[in-house]
Amino acid sequence: MVVDIELKKEDDRSYKIYIEPIEKIEVEGKCAVVTNPKVGGLHLNYLLPKIKAKELYVITLPDGEEYKNFESLNFLLDRLFDHKLDRKSTLIAFGGGVIGDMTGFAASIYQRGIDFIQVPTTLLSQVDASVGGKTGINNRFGKNLIGSFHQPRAVYIDTHFLKTLPKREFAAGVAEIVKMAVVFDREFFDWLLEADLSDEEQLRQAIQKAVKLKARIVALDEREGGVRASLNYGHTFAHVIENLTGYKNFLHGEAVAVGMVMANELAKKAGLITEEDAEKIKGLLQKHGLPISYEIEDAKDFYTQFYLDKKSQNDKITFVLPKGIGDFVITDGVGESDVIEVLKEFEK
Ligand SMILES: NC(=O)c1ccc[n+]([C@@H]2O[C@H](COP(=O)([O-])OP(=O)(O)OC[C@H]3O[C@@H](n4cnc5c(N)ncnc54)[C@H](O)[C@@H]3O)[C@@H](O)[C@H]2O)c1
Ligand SMILES: [Zn+2]
Repeated sequence: MVVDIELKKEDDRSYKIYIEPIEKIEVEGKCAVVTNPKVGGLHLNYLLPKIKAKELYVITLPDGEEYKNFESLNFLLDRLFDHKLDRKSTLIAFGGGVIGDMTGFAASIYQRGIDFIQVPTTLLSQVDASVGGKTGINNRFGKNLIGSFHQPRAVYIDTHFLKTLPKREFAAGVAEIVKMAVVFDREFFDWLLEADLSDEEQLRQAIQKAVKLKARIVALDEREGGVRASLNYGHTFAHVIENLTGYKNFLHGEAVAVGMVMANELAKKAGLITEEDAEKIKGLLQKHGLPISYEIEDAKDFYTQFYLDKKSQNDKITFVLPKGIGDFVITDGVGESDVIEVLKEFEK
């Protein structure tokens, strides 16, 4: 026999992303703000008075990608029990993507899931990591291999925080903005060519546009069954570069910048993008002080590294390639020899 379980339609997980100076964040029950010493030291005095909650706690995790692990997660969960947070409580992730991913993951499993709110403080997390509900931690087998999909209740994007962000971190966020423009929106790309992102209003406009693009893709494909993979443009190459350099020489966004240049070379070979457009993309990355090259030691060795990436399904390597500027293709049909040829262009 067959027993059907008819579940009620999933509750509404839609949410608002506020891109404006934070005025007030109101939650019903208890609330814990999760941050790190750097962000907390710089900006808690700005945020805390704006939070209205029954009880308010601050939990501080160590700063850095190397702490995005089980130990920190466990520490965080323990503090939630210490403070007796219940199923009606809310977590607020206050920091960059590392804090956002860990806090979101903790919220998704604490007492089988509680609400959380994102208050991203890096450009990268404002335009990318805080939107879309991917959460997780790293382990010794790789990055983000343990995690869940858990959408935030709301996202508050306030450019005020970016004033203290180091230049390199800022540029790394710009790389993800360029990524979205190249794969989705030619007009936005052309606007970026002229824009001055040190101007607060123009920066806000760029963030707004990027967030809209990401939100649209997430709504279409929340669990990355298809079109959401387009956000991995540049990333197949970037992950290998990050691995080969032990995550030390390149910030993620910097590796993505190089990865996009590499993907463009492949796209050129496949007749998908013109030399002129590829140069425009390179120029925009350079304008923001992003790297556009990485000296590959050995093209064949680099190629085998693709297989270690979780995004390559079965034994095929999936590339996201730009189709002109403003469109893309996702393909696992690129021949090995073509890829190696491109990689050889980057060899010492
Ligand atoms: N969930 C997703 O969809 C998604 C998407 C992209 C990236 N990510 C994850 O995001 C992480 C990278 O995020 P990130 O680039 O924000 O790095 P991060 O969180 O490590 O922040 C970078 C550095 O900037 C500091 N910082 C943060 N805000 C600051 C501020 N306002 N002023 C001064 N310093 C500040 C941080 O303390 C840290 O030292 C990675 O772990 C990546 O896997 C997740
Ligand atoms: Zn990225």
